[in-house]
Amino acid sequence: MHKYPIGVFDSGFGGLSVLDALQKKLPKEDFIYIADQAFAPYGKRSAEQIMERSHTMSRWLLAKGCKLIVVACNTATTNAIQELRATYTIPFVGIEPAIKPAALGSTTAAIGVLATEGTLSSALFHSTTQDHAKNVRVITQVGHGLVELVEKGLADSQQADTLLKEALAPILVHPIDHLVLGCTHYPFLTTALKRILPSSVQIVDCSAAIARQTERLLEKHELKNKVGGNAHFFTTAPTESSLWKTFGVDLISQVEI
Ligand code: DGL
Repeated sequence: MHKYPIGVFDSGFGGLSVLDALQKKLPKEDFIYIADQAFAPYGKRSAEQIMERSHTMSRWLLAKGCKLIVVACNTATTNAIQELRATYTIPFVGIEPAIKPAALGSTTAAIGVLATEGTLSSALFHSTTQDHAKNVRVITQVGHGLVELVEKGLADSQQADTLLKEALAPILVHPIDHLVLGCTHYPFLTTALKRILPSSVQIVDCSAAIARQTERLLEKHELKNKVGGNAHFFTTAPTESSLWKTFGVDLISQVEI
């Protein structure tokens, strides 16, 4: 029987969309969530900075006794997961834009991907696209300002509609039938996205697949909890607890790392 928690990190609120899927799938697990809000957004940072912060988050979670770490951030995964796996002995689960299922499901042979600059410029994103979307046109677009908007608690707002319309315009000139959400902050924009996207476009969010993969790894390494169900939340920046409450988090502690 294992009592150790699962660590989850992101630059901010985005990873909470992944944590939600993890808690639904694994109700007996304990979680420690850390938001690196002092360094958000990651998407505009250099590959070196993203790597350095990913190490800092991982080391802090390891010091808390985590048995497995979920990198609940596409930008950190696509820039750092290979090195994290090579450095630490515990298992890591990452999240990458779900190109493969979208490409497989496309009947128009065109899919859109909305993600951060850091994700779209990574080598891992390019190799995944080449490997899994050979006969499908992949139209990518940086979601400028979207992470900042979610961080301000404005995911369902007029500003969100304006920014999304700008970001989606170059994608929607193509006959896409899937839009891949390549950033864990973007599922919080689903209501606004549905106002803008044609109903023929399916929104692809892979949080549930990440939760299934986490369960598989826990089973493989015999790390599953029999009892538990707690979650503790930390952030690296001064923050408004009222904003966290809108994301369903009642207690948040600040740490300086
Ligand atoms: N939520 C993250 C992602 O999935 C990072 C967003 C950011 O900080 O730019 O990419």
